[in-house]
Amino acid sequence: MNFPAELISLLRRSRAPKLVALTGAGVSQESGLRTFRDAQTGLWAQYKPEDLASPQAFRRDPKLIWDWYAWRREAVKGVRPNAGHYALVDIAKHIPEFTLITQNVDGLHHMAFQTLRDSESLKVLPSIIELHGNIQRVRCSECYTFAEVWGDDTESVPRCSVCGGLLRPDVVWFGEALPRDQLEAAVEAARTCDVFFSIGTSGVVQPAASLAHAARNRGAVVIEVNAEPTPLTSKANYAFHGKSGEILPELVKAVWLNDT
Ligand code: APR
Repeated sequence: MNFPAELISLLRRSRAPKLVALTGAGVSQESGLRTFRDAQTGLWAQYKPEDLASPQAFRRDPKLIWDWYAWRREAVKGVRPNAGHYALVDIAKHIPEFTLITQNVDGLHHMAFQTLRDSESLKVLPSIIELHGNIQRVRCSECYTFAEVWGDDTESVPRCSVCGGLLRPDVVWFGEALPRDQLEAAVEAARTCDVFFSIGTSGVVQPAASLAHAARNRGAVVIEVNAEPTPLTSKANYAFHGKSGEILPELVKAVWLNDT
């Protein structure tokens, strides 16, 4: 893929840009995970995610929702970050202030950045803001105590060892507020960045969808990398349509590996 020369020099030249990358389910698609709006499979094909990922659904049938997330935790266990996740790690190595904001709950960005934590190549590790939580974390639905272990009784939803409340995944369900500290950090990053990437997201769910506009209003250069056009496409400075696992590594190569 050819990248405009001015984009290459912008990313290469500004040694101290504050760069934000917002990701959605599309960045995990090449790891074999369905995007949020992809059809579900097997037993879960009969349900729409929006009908399961809500406090009402959990109140109505906690066991069904608990089992759906247990199935998703298992599905993620066998999955690894893809070239798109690792390209973001490469970008972070060249950008002093890199903030990753993800709507994904699969934890794959943490897994990819783990490779950096083991090396000294970064003075400041990038912050990863998980706007919608992480399905690998489980907490009490009443007292918010996190649970590292829980019973595997197949008949009922495990309960909190502190207050006896039902355990639930530590994710943000439809109709629930995002964790305030994560949202405030994401908005601050979007409002103060020089470059904003929107990667693998349909850009339809608020408040994540408004972050790109906050960046644009600040005068940041907005770059979309997505398999198909979205409502952001016409407002982005650059839009590359295709697979993030292909486009991002090519961009890293064009900007930093060919920087002779
Ligand atoms: N590379 C790049 N983009 C891709 C790829 C890929 N390999 N595969 C799919 N896409 C794009 C799709 O074209 C789509 O526009 O990723 C986007 C995924 O959009 P959604 O499925 O809507 O997922 P997302 O944008 O993350 O949803 C946002 O909404 O439902 C809530 O909480 C849920 O976090 C989710 C949020």
